[in-house]
Amino acid sequence: MGGEDDVLLAEQLAYYRAGAAEYDRPYRERADIQELLTVADRLPVAGDVLELACGTGQWTPLLAARARSVTAVDAAAETIAVARKRVTSANVEFVRADLFSWRPSRRYDTVFFAFWLSHVPPARLPAFWDAVAAALAPGGRAVFVDDGPGGAAGEEVLTDGAVPAALRRLADGSAYRVVKVFHDATALTDRLASLGWSARVRPTAGKFLVGIAERP
Ligand SMILES: C[S@@+](CC[C@H](N)C(=O)[O-])C[C@H]1O[C@@H](n2cnc3c(N)ncnc32)[C@H](O)[C@@H]1O
Repeated sequence: MGGEDDVLLAEQLAYYRAGAAEYDRPYRERADIQELLTVADRLPVAGDVLELACGTGQWTPLLAARARSVTAVDAAAETIAVARKRVTSANVEFVRADLFSWRPSRRYDTVFFAFWLSHVPPARLPAFWDAVAAALAPGGRAVFVDDGPGGAAGEEVLTDGAVPAALRRLADGSAYRVVKVFHDATALTDRLASLGWSARVRPTAGKFLVGIAERP
């Protein structure tokens, strides 16, 4: 941990901060992502929900419609500003915080994260899932969606570092490295079991993954 992880995580956050205004484009233009959003209706989202890495709030209204409350956390003020315009539900609160250090002061019925797990460096996976467990009330569930292995075809995958990464480009030509782990559903299910979770992870809507995990 540290070293390459820290450098990549800083660059990853810089990418999302600089690109907040163009983040929503695939949600407008890609049929597979629009189809993926419909999965939210079938996910076990209930009660008080903690949304990690909420970004521009694409998933937040879908959660808010089914939740008592949503606490939506992201480290980028720029993405939260976009989300605040999109999401006006009275039961949503936004928090700006770094998920690698922030810990909630209460527990939640559901912890949800979309396209965040693939940005967690492998060495930080156990600590990340421990933090999710600590944020869940007894009987609570972690629910997530992300890219599966098929997502690699649409990325400039970087193979020269110790941490799985990809190069992302913004409209102004600037380029940033992000951590990008294309989890396989079966391998991730087994990894979660080794960390004490009972998880169901399955491919959906083409190249994506949907996971539901509980700590027995
Ligand atoms: C791939 S986007 C996902 C956004 C949203 N969940 C979605 O699916 O559209 C990743 C988000 O993680 C946020 N992020 C990056 N580093 C972070 C960190 N250390 N702590 C919290 N959020 C972070 C970025 O600002 C960005 O909004």
